[in-house]
Amino acid sequence: MPSGIKWSEDLCTGIAVIDRQHKTFFKLTNDLLEGSENDKKLILKAFDFLKNYIAEHFGLEEKLMVDYKYPAIKQHKTFHDNFIAELDKLEPRLQEESLEPVFLRLNYLVVNWFVNHISTKDKKLASFLESQALKDKSVSAVLKRLHENSI
Ligand SMILES: [Fe+2]
Repeated sequence: MPSGIKWSEDLCTGIAVIDRQHKTFFKLTNDLLEGSENDKKLILKAFDFLKNYIAEHFGLEEKLMVDYKYPAIKQHKTFHDNFIAELDKLEPRLQEESLEPVFLRLNYLVVNWFVNHISTKDKKLASFLESQALKDKSVSAVLKRLHENSI
C-alpha cells in the first residue's frame, strides 16, 4: 500500500482555517490508505466521508473567492472541479477492483495534484485574502471566526 502523505510546514498558507482543513484532509486520506480495513463497506464509507470533506473545504474556499472578488476564481475552481471528478472516478473502482491500484491513484492525486495546488493556487488565494484583511479588518474577523467554527 502507498506510503503516508506527509504534511510539512511549508504547505501552510497562513490562513488558519484553510491550513487546518488541509491537515485534516491529509489525516483522513492517510487513515484510509494505511488502515488495515478489509471491509469494503467501511472503506467506501471512509472514502465518501473524505470526498464530502474535501468538497466542503473547496466550497469554503470558493465562497471566500466570491465574497472577496478573487480575480483568479475561475482557474482555481477548475482545479477543484477536476479533483472532485477524479475522486468520483475512484468510487466505483473501489467496489470492483483490488484496492491497491485505487489507493495508489488516490495517493498520487493527493501527493501530486493536491500538494501542488496548495503550494501554488491556495498560497496565492491566501496572500490575496491577507491583503484584503489588511485593508479591511472585518475580513480578518471573518477568517478567524471561520477557523474557530471549522471542523
Ligand atoms: Fe483550493
